[in-house]
Amino acid sequence: MPLPNTIAIDGPAGSGKSSVSFAIAQQIGYLFVDTGAFYRAVTLLALEQHLDLHHSGQLITLVERTRLDMTPELADDDRQFTFLADERDITCDLHSAEVDHSVSIIAADQEVRAALLNPQRLLAARGRVIMAGRDIGTVILPDADLKIYIDATLDKRAERRYEQRLRNGEPADLDEIRESLRRRDEVDSSRTNAPLLRAPDAIYLDTTSLNLEESIAAAYQIIQNGKPSLNQP
Ligand code: DC
Repeated sequence: MPLPNTIAIDGPAGSGKSSVSFAIAQQIGYLFVDTGAFYRAVTLLALEQHLDLHHSGQLITLVERTRLDMTPELADDDRQFTFLADERDITCDLHSAEVDHSVSIIAADQEVRAALLNPQRLLAARGRVIMAGRDIGTVILPDADLKIYIDATLDKRAERRYEQRLRNGEPADLDEIRESLRRRDEVDSSRTNAPLLRAPDAIYLDTTSLNLEESIAAAYQIIQNGKPSLNQP
């Protein structure tokens, strides 16, 4: 059976969707598109330029004036893609605490979302793509060949982020990370525009009790067989 040409993977922060999507994309030679990077890039640039994060007009001008591009190029620093803003490599700055803190505001802006719709769809139109985000199966690619919704409990997701920070030699406080994730979940799920939602035709994968290798194997099995995992609720 041929693999699905477009694969949409949605889920909350820390569910493992990026790591799983990246690993599988590498395995099957697909392009991995982490759509959160687009919202992060706009946040980073807006902060750098001291824009008002609540001013849609300023943000739209920024998006219109900046060439945002994502490439599958990797480097020596654990990256899963390279993100360019007017040719400048901003990949490493996309996960700073400042960007983490403000990105939900940008992602909730309807005009920003509208402006970023086309760049995301253009990437998907290349085919052989695994696109990960919050609204891929519901808004960006409602006709994706396969949709998976990856989930995990808040405690587990916080624990993963905490360990990731420690591995990277960054300061980490588990309670603070849990609270920041909880806050982002709340904003991402309750916003009016393209909230985090499980598409009715998405296959549910709960990775709470799975390590990364097991999560990858479970998602890969779904991609190969189109079959729901055992932990379908
Ligand atoms: O997956 P992430 O943590 O990099 O996402 C960053 C932010 O962007 C987060 O607040 C959710 C939001 N986002 C979104 O609204 N829609 C997407 N398709 C991807 C991310």
